[in-house]
Amino acid sequence: MRSNIKYDTKDLWTKDKEHVLHAWSNLQTVREKGSLVVAEADGIYVWDSDGNKMIDGPAGMWCINIGYGRGEMADAIAEQARRMPYFSPFHQMTSPPTAELGAKIAELTPGDLNEVFFTTGGSTAVDSAIRFVWSYHRYTGNKNKKHIISRLDSYHGSTYLTASICGKMTDRSPYFDYITDKDFIHHLPSPYPYRRPEGTSLEEFCDEKVADLENKILELGPENVACFIAEPILASGGVIVPPPGYHKRTLEICRKYDVIYISDEVVTAFGRLGHFFASEPVYDIVPDIITCAKGLTSGYMPLGALIISERLFGAVAGAQAKDSVFANGFTYSGHPVAAAAGLKNIEIMEREKICEHVREVGPYFMERLESLYDLPMVGEVRGSHLMGCVECVANRKTKERFKLELGIGPRIDMHCQKNGLIVRPFEHFCVLSPPLVITKEEIDEMVRILREGMEATMNDLRREGLWDG
Ligand SMILES: Cc1ncc(COP(=O)(O)O)c(C=O)c1O
Repeated sequence: MRSNIKYDTKDLWTKDKEHVLHAWSNLQTVREKGSLVVAEADGIYVWDSDGNKMIDGPAGMWCINIGYGRGEMADAIAEQARRMPYFSPFHQMTSPPTAELGAKIAELTPGDLNEVFFTTGGSTAVDSAIRFVWSYHRYTGNKNKKHIISRLDSYHGSTYLTASICGKMTDRSPYFDYITDKDFIHHLPSPYPYRRPEGTSLEEFCDEKVADLENKILELGPENVACFIAEPILASGGVIVPPPGYHKRTLEICRKYDVIYISDEVVTAFGRLGHFFASEPVYDIVPDIITCAKGLTSGYMPLGALIISERLFGAVAGAQAKDSVFANGFTYSGHPVAAAAGLKNIEIMEREKICEHVREVGPYFMERLESLYDLPMVGEVRGSHLMGCVECVANRKTKERFKLELGIGPRIDMHCQKNGLIVRPFEHFCVLSPPLVITKEEIDEMVRILREGMEATMNDLRREGLWDG
């Protein structure tokens, strides 16, 4: 429930505007318009500092899986902070919650993925996964296996290495020098069914995307390719769901050429697709490495992890390791307080059968989103379980995109916020990935507000002479 604390919005807004450099924000807009001050939260709702209540449509940043306001999470965090808040994870040190969480994650992952390396978030998990892959190849005598294959529209993080692996070209800053295909990072075309060439069936499109991977490996030479990294659903690219069979077939290609398959489950793990990890139960694959973060603690503490198969780990660890060191790690790798939050999060998810709940309400959520198809700006509604996206288009027949500068997503979000819903707005996409505890009634409310926001946006565009749809 909301507290009685009174916030001085103007003061907070001014301090933030003048002193806080925001992540992924337009520097001019933040300085001129400031930010929304989100002060309190409970269940699927947040309140701004003026007391306005809104449904958190994106669950923070795809992470508040168990919902806000969980007293037992706060207690678990406080208890561990009191008992032993931190100790170095380096040089053969660990803590009870870190060891317990490692074992628990190994129990939840598919196949022989049993070796957990903890990080501080998703970017550091992906970055560390690549470094592990390189170490593995060098150690096993494949010193040229260095090249990384990723896909356009993917998002894998914000370190220098992971930002270069990302394939969302609209996110690229003209002021950075990224690692490119001239170096060792390559991007395949996006497995984006809605944007496939006219007249191409879904099956043909899948064949093409699988062939893209094989052709790229052959072009580079299998002896030079270290890994392929893929989100099961390209989340930040606009919830792009690859065609059926794509995951299994791309994994087979990787196996054929001894290319390591990294499944980036930073968004999809911990229930969003109805399972702790989506790879095996949803896509029938057991990758070599899985990366996760976000839902691992439901955002209550920062924590990430990569989970490595015994097949890979066994080749570089133990007696044959001959004093070799995995020269990678963070002060806060496996932070005890974050690990305690991770354990409590999993306990709550298991006790309340949250994955089962997602499997039950997920189809309803998608069905309600599909009810928006009668709005002329809706090009495609897509997603899976509690991961949805509405792609807006200027012309439904030709699938022509709205011009980026019209800021369609942010316009819709602005209307929705006034009516009590935060949408994740970017470009011409409306992404919704609510806390996993959402009920069918709350889904109805969320979709009703989204519909009103889209209707208001269409009216604005027509009135301003920017659209005649
Ligand atoms: C698939 C995927 N990988 C990695 C990351 C990076 O995670 P973080 O922001 O915790 O560093 C994200 C973040 O959204 C993500 O969506």
